[in-house]
Order: sequence, then C-alpha cells, then structure tokens
Amino acid sequence: MAMKITVIGLGYLGATHAVAMAKVGHQVIGIEPNPQKIASLSQGKAGFFEPGLDEELAKQIASGRITFKSAHDEESREADIHFICVGTPQTPGSMAADTSYLVSAINDVAPYLREDALVVGKSTVPVGTAVSLTQQLAKATGFSAPNLAWNPEFLREGTALEDSLHPDRLVIGVTNPRAEELLRQVFAPMIAEGIPFLVTDLATAELVKAAANAFLATKISFINAMAEIAEVSGADASSLAKAIGYDERIGNKFLRNGVGFGGGCLPKDIRALIARAEELGVGESVAYLHEIDKINLRRRDRVIHLLQEELGTLSQKRVLILGAAFKPDSDDVRDSPALAIALLAKAAGAEVIVHDPVALHGVALKHPELTLEQSLHQAFTNVDAVVLATEWKEYRELDPTTVTPRNKFIIDGRNVLDVAKWQQAGFKVQALGRTITN
Ligand code: UDX
Repeated sequence: MAMKITVIGLGYLGATHAVAMAKVGHQVIGIEPNPQKIASLSQGKAGFFEPGLDEELAKQIASGRITFKSAHDEESREADIHFICVGTPQTPGSMAADTSYLVSAINDVAPYLREDALVVGKSTVPVGTAVSLTQQLAKATGFSAPNLAWNPEFLREGTALEDSLHPDRLVIGVTNPRAEELLRQVFAPMIAEGIPFLVTDLATAELVKAAANAFLATKISFINAMAEIAEVSGADASSLAKAIGYDERIGNKFLRNGVGFGGGCLPKDIRALIARAEELGVGESVAYLHEIDKINLRRRDRVIHLLQEELGTLSQKRVLILGAAFKPDSDDVRDSPALAIALLAKAAGAEVIVHDPVALHGVALKHPELTLEQSLHQAFTNVDAVVLATEWKEYRELDPTTVTPRNKFIIDGRNVLDVAKWQQAGFKVQALGRTITN
C-alpha cells in the first residue's frame, strides 16, 4: 500500500532513498534546505554522478510520486514516516562524528509531526544517538512518547539505487510494535522479494552499520598488510587473496589489495567508532582500528616510495595520476586515495597531472596546485611516471601502445592491468603487493 513519506536531507543517501521509495510506489516529499539542490533535483538532476539515478529520478518526477521542497510545510503533516538522511561528517579536529545536522533535522520536522507518525533515522551515527534524539523530539513536540526508529543504509556509491532497492538485508531498530508495522509496510515490496528483515533495538541497529563498515575496512587493511609482507618476500598479495578467499569462512570479496579504501564512509566511520567506544569507556575494544587506518594510509606512502625508487627526487618530474575519485563510477573525492597520492607527490616536489573521467570538478577549486587534464591520451604527454590509482574501465582497457609518455613507467595501484601487455608496449611496470620483473 502506498504511503506518504518525507525524506529529509538529499545528499547521496537521501536522494537515492527518495528515488527508491518513489519507485516502489510511495508518495515522497524530498526536503533539503539548499535551494540550488532543490532546483536541480526538481529538474531530474541529483547533482552527483551515480549511474542510473538521474534517469530514475526523472521517471519518478514524471510519475508525480516525488516532489522537492526547501522546508517542511503543512503537507509534511500528512506523512506517515519521516526518513532522516542528513550527513554525519567527521568533526574537524576530532575523530568523532558530527551529529548536529540530525539535531537540526529533528527540530525542523517537530512542528509538523503527527503524534502517530514515525521518524526514522537512516544516517550513520554513534551508538546511543537515537535515544538522545528521541528525548529531543519529545521536548520539541511536547509528545510524551514520540516514535523514533533507526534503519541503517548500506548502499555503495556506484550501485546506490540497486543497493537501495535490493539490499542484502533490511535492519530496523524499534521501540514498539507500531514502528515495526509502519516499516514493514513501507518496505513491503522488498520483504515480499525475500530480503531478510531484521528487527532489533535502537542501539543494535545503530551499531550494525558501524560494525559492518569496520569489518569491511578491516578486510581491506588485512590484505594490504599482507601486501606489505609480500613486497619484501617476493610473494604476490593478489594470488594470496584468491587462495585464502576460496575458504568459505573467509570469502573472496573485499580482499582487493591496492592503494586502500577512501570515500565518505569507511574512513570516517571507523574513526567515529573508535571515538564512541572511547567515550563509552571501552576504547580498547576497537583500538586495533587505529592500525587499520594506519595500514590504509601507508599504502599511499608506498606509491611515493616506488616513484622515488624509479625517478630519484621527484622535483622537476611530471607524474600523472590516473583517477581522482575514491573508486570508479563515482565522482566523490572525499578521502580519496588517488587524490591523496597526487597531493603527496606534489608535496615531494613533482609536477602532478590528474586525470579522471568524471571527478575533476571536485578537485579544481580545492587544489589549484594540481594540473587537471580532461583528455586521457593528452594527459600522458611528457610525463615521467604514471600511477593508476582508481580502477576506471577506461584505464583498465587502455591500449598501452596508444600512449606516449616521455618515460614509460607505470605503477598499478589497483592490480588491474595486464602487466605483460604493458611491458610489451615498452613500459616498466610496478604494482602494489608484488614484485614485478621488468
Ligand atoms: C561503503 C560500504 O561498502 C557501504 O555498505 C556503506 O553504506 C558506505 O560505505 P562506499 O563508500 O560506496 O560503500 O564504497 P566501497 O565499495 O565500500 O569501497 C570503499 C573503498 O574501499 C573504495 O575506496 C574502494 O576502492 C576500496 N576497496 C574496496 C579496496 O581497496 N579493496 C576492496 O577489496 C574493496
């Protein structure tokens, strides 16, 4: 049965969730204070690169199931569920998550909340946030028991809509049967598809997301730690990952070694988990996550080391970084390993050229010290070294005989190139996690 819902905060998470909810048949009002974002969304443009999202958004606007507003109005009062999808970025100067946008969202929705309506947090939060937001909601509305639930979102950039529509599981943290019933209704099409639906308390639902991301980060840093050993022992970390991955208890996913993880979630979420555990007096439980972070950051230094091994000093050298986004099929450069390597090479004295098929707009204003190049072939002109840092399809499929840098040296930071092919084209190839004979 179609429900009326609002989706508050229309960044990556909110815009995708709003479109997904409209697609499964609900009537959605998207709310976001930024007027430019509202204008863009209303014209069918999410404002970030996400395959398939703009097309689906346009369809849902045409169907009349989704509209956008810069603030709540009387129409919000008709909604049965209000999903809060605002960001929880890392607090500057601290590892903790900044939850102030959630507090504002709660205060904004309070005057328009029916007593029988449900507020559902989807943002990634420190465990315990939902309880304090419920208290705040009680104060702001005057209701004795406002209904607030938590429903973490596990979508990945690049496959966001697909992940929202067909998640591996749905997790809801609730405090009463009415909340569960409303959430069962809103997710009915997914439940009917057989997607596991887990009902928990608020704290567990909050912690599931932090735990999942900590586990994923741990997997990546584990294989990157093995890569460090492989590099000094002659072993090959990619073959190692394949071999251990056949063990079903280990599994072969998220064991790709390379320049490490980045993005708007994994790095900040492990830091937020450390900060919250420390606040709760159990910091030692996740103290190992400091190492996970450090292993991840050391991979960036390894690339600079390989460049220096090949070129000596980087001063006066032109280094091309292939990729700026933290992963392919995204224009997100938050905490991007590729961008970090570009800046490290620059700091080491190199002239740095960066190519990316879609993410350069996010680099241009912030980093005028980097030279940005839109044309892939042009980018190779007169360079002394190339670093493949984001595994875009166009890099994986690039014919090495068609590019002519002044020195043919490439570092495969993601282990995706056909080494023999590049060597045949005259390139010296290095990669992370293995030693290549050239
Ligand atoms: C992540 C979680 O996967 C998702 O469930 C959560 O909702 C948000 O955070 P996302 O940030 O979109 O999603 O990216 P993800 O695909 O998880 O990749 C994160 C980073 O890890 C990327 O920089 C990627 O290149 C890197 N990565 C991933 C590896 O280095 N090796 C791997 O094996 C997998």
